[in-house]
Amino acid sequence: MKVLVINGPNLNLLGIREKNIYGSKGYKDICEFIKNKAEELKIDVEIFQSNIEGEIINQIHKAYDDKIDGIVINPAAYTHYSIAIYDALKAVNIPTIEIHLSNIHAREEYRKKSVTAPACVGQICGFGYHGYAMALEAMIRVVNNLEV
Ligand code: DQA
Repeated sequence: MKVLVINGPNLNLLGIREKNIYGSKGYKDICEFIKNKAEELKIDVEIFQSNIEGEIINQIHKAYDDKIDGIVINPAAYTHYSIAIYDALKAVNIPTIEIHLSNIHAREEYRKKSVTAPACVGQICGFGYHGYAMALEAMIRVVNNLEV
């Protein structure tokens, strides 16, 4: 099973940016955490990060060509306004789980709305970097058509 993890803008600065909201673990360490969890679950994982909307869209298109089984995406700020990322997810029709480190529903009004979540099977938020592990576990059930 092949899963692509996509991280959007400013997530490369995890460990530096607003630690009180996003935690003190650095981006590289979070990537290591994701890779270790994937190995434990016997999932083939690829991690992609970009600060550029079009690059994220190209990567979603590439996931289709690469026959990726599932996408875990933290679109970061694009969550709240990128119809283009929503359209790309709908276009490739690959099971996708949206994840956020912070609880976006307990923050500013403009963060409560996700335009990308309706293209996803579900959303995990508010559990920090552990949300990525939760998403990988959930993805096994989704891809194998097990009851969720
Ligand atoms: C975020 C939440 C977004 O609102 C914000 O723009 C981010 C990170 C999160 O993981 O909590 O960059 O996606």
